[in-house]
Amino acid sequence: MHIDIITVVPGLLEGPFAHSILKRAEDKGLASIRVINLRDYSTSKQKQVDDYAFGGGAGMVMSIEPIARCIEALQKERTYDEIIYMTPDGERFDQPMANALSLNQNLLILCGHYKGVDERVRERFITKEISIGDYVLSGGELAAAVVADALIRLIPGVLNDETSALTDSFQDGLLAPPVYTRPADYDGMKVPEVLLSGHEAKINEWRFEASVRRTQERRPDLLSDKQTGESDAESYK
Ligand code: ADE
Repeated sequence: MHIDIITVVPGLLEGPFAHSILKRAEDKGLASIRVINLRDYSTSKQKQVDDYAFGGGAGMVMSIEPIARCIEALQKERTYDEIIYMTPDGERFDQPMANALSLNQNLLILCGHYKGVDERVRERFITKEISIGDYVLSGGELAAAVVADALIRLIPGVLNDETSALTDSFQDGLLAPPVYTRPADYDGMKVPEVLLSGHEAKINEWRFEASVRRTQERRPDLLSDKQTGESDAESYK
């Protein structure tokens, strides 16, 4: 998968992609991310990419011309499956959306700033608008990093244990069960006996039940439209 990210603050995206699984995915050749500075597509001396809003009001609006020049130049290099605009008024990002987007080959992500982009950018170029939650960030960069991380870790081979993304919270509509490692007894706090039993079917059953319980307690909204059946314990293998 290749992800191009257009931003006016490229420095904000240097950190997340230099570390952890994103770096490993790049090193393994499974994913590549390129950060593009929108100011490189400005024709003004000051590298301006925004202007006052027609009709007045506080805040600047990102102009269509540099964005159009940038996207059209990038489209000469590749065909994008989606051109995504990060914005608080977009569709809410969740695991099913991450799963679907992770199947794409080429994505372009435009990060908004100031009061956002001229509406005509959205009409002309954008195929998908994503919000990572009901709060306003100072720009779309951190939101783009969140989306890129969620997608890239789903690419087969990126995680060491290939099955581990499948047992994440939300993958089956449930929160993940509690996990434990050594020691089996920490200051009287004991790991549930069943996890030490080596009995795979019983462990899967315990994990499924713990998952349902945790979801009921913390996120009952996830259960409201889901039927939970015995067979779901299979997914905790
Ligand atoms: N840009 C600013 N806030 C955002 C949000 N919540 N999601 C996506 N992009 C944003």
